[in-house]
Formats: sequence, C-alpha cells, structure tokens
Amino acid sequence: MGNSKARVISDPLLHVAILLDGNGRWAAARGLARSEGHRAGVAAVRRIVRAAPDLGIGTLTLYAFSSNNWERPAPEVCALLALLEDFLRNGAAEFEAERIRLRVIGRRDRIPRSLLEAIEFAERKTAAGRRMDLRIALDYSSRDAILRAACWMISSLEVTEREFARRLGQVTNGGTPAPDVDLLIRTGGERRLSDFMLWECAYAELFFTPRMWPEFDAADLEAAVEDYLGRERRFGRLPETAAAS
Ligand code: IPE
Ligand code: IPE
Ligand code: MG
Repeated sequence: MGNSKARVISDPLLHVAILLDGNGRWAAARGLARSEGHRAGVAAVRRIVRAAPDLGIGTLTLYAFSSNNWERPAPEVCALLALLEDFLRNGAAEFEAERIRLRVIGRRDRIPRSLLEAIEFAERKTAAGRRMDLRIALDYSSRDAILRAACWMISSLEVTEREFARRLGQVTNGGTPAPDVDLLIRTGGERRLSDFMLWECAYAELFFTPRMWPEFDAADLEAAVEDYLGRERRFGRLPETAAAS
C-alpha cells in the first residue's frame, strides 16, 4: 500500500463515519454465534483505526451500538457491551501511543457502571492525542441528540447553525462539535442511515459496500477514501463556484 497511501491523503483532513454492519450475518454464514461476529467486528475496528490516520482521516466516527440496539436479546446486548469494554480497556494504551484521542458519543445514563469506567479511563488516557479523533458512538441516536439540542434552543432567541452544531456536540458528550461528515461508509449491504448523524451528514458522500464488517480491512477503507476523492462536492452550487470556495 506504500505508494498508494500518499495518493489518498486529503487536505483538509477528512471526517469519515462508518456504520459497521454485518457482524451477525458474517457469523451466521460460518455457523458461528452472533457474538463471534461481534468479536471479529472488534478486530476489524482495531485494523481500521490503525489504518485511518495514514489515509488523511482526521476524525473517524464508528457506530458501535445504537439506542435501538437495546431491543436485541439480552445475551447479545451483554456480549456486545462486554466486547466494547474490553476494546476500551485494552486499546487505550495503543491509542495513546498512536496519539489517537478517543471519545465516546451518545447517552451515558443507561450504560452499565463498569463500561462507564472503561469509557472514562480510555478518554482520560488518550486525551492528549492529536493525530486523529476517534469517536465511538455508543447508545447513540441522532434523533435523540437533535431533540435534546432543540430543547435547549427553545430557550434561546436566535440560534445559528454553528451554535446548534456546538450544542449538538455537547449533548452527545463529544465535547466540541465534530466537523461535518465528509464520507459515510456502511458495510453489510444495507443502504440506510439507521439514525446515525443525521445533522452532521447533511452533505456527506455515501459509500455502501456489501462487505460484512468483520471482513472490512485497510484496503477497503483506502478504496472508499479514493472513491470519495474522485467525487465532485457541490453543496447546492454550480460546479465551478463550489470548487472555487
Ligand atoms: C453490526 O452488526 C453491529 C451492531 C449493530 C452492534 P449486526 O449485529 O447488525 O449484524 P447483522 O446486520 O445482523 O448482520
Ligand atoms: C446500525 O446497525 C447500528 C450500528 C451499526 C451500531 P443495525 O444493524 O442496528 O441497523 P438496522 O436495524 O439494520 O437498521
Ligand atoms: Mg445490522
């Protein structure tokens, strides 16, 4: 990948968001339990996080557990949360060494205590990282976040998009607002947003791949970024004025 990496570096750095989907189907196709799919999914997360900074990605947001995922059977929810906890506890040192700042976005009030502690541990340990922002969306619902930011807005007279975005960043615990999403990737073959960053993806380029998340690797991420770099973003304008701004 050596030479091709340099080709895909983008300036400014990109915000890439990934809906990592297909763990369960990947496991079922191999006669494995769904939890084994999630285990393989965590390994894929590690690979992708390692590869991302060298691909010009400044912010990487991964959708790990949606607020609607609580509706899954309790054993699957428990397995998922346990895997996430291990990921945070075991990954923190590596992320710190790689200068990756990890933050968890989403609700915190329904997260089990031990996972909460792992989140706080990983966030503290990696706080100084400036090479890439890694955001893990956990108990995340974009509608819930927008609604909570909108409730705040009711008490303010005039609100700009920028102020609203800042508030949205605060209500999802991400602190400062993330830049708008440049590229949204969904693995697993489905073509929907499933309540993921509806505001931040207003002008995101969408990339859907049939690849199941446990199989997604650095080369797939690079191919998605290259595809993105070949697109023309117009933001509602005509091509020449969009390019000039
Ligand atoms: C994605 O894989 C991980 C989460 C949503 C937590 P799924 O568990 O949704 O896998 P499929 O879609 O059933 O294959
Ligand atoms: C979306 O995947 C949520 C995450 C990737 C965490 P789902 O598998 O839960 O989404 P739907 O149910 O297919 O829309
Ligand atoms: Mg799914």
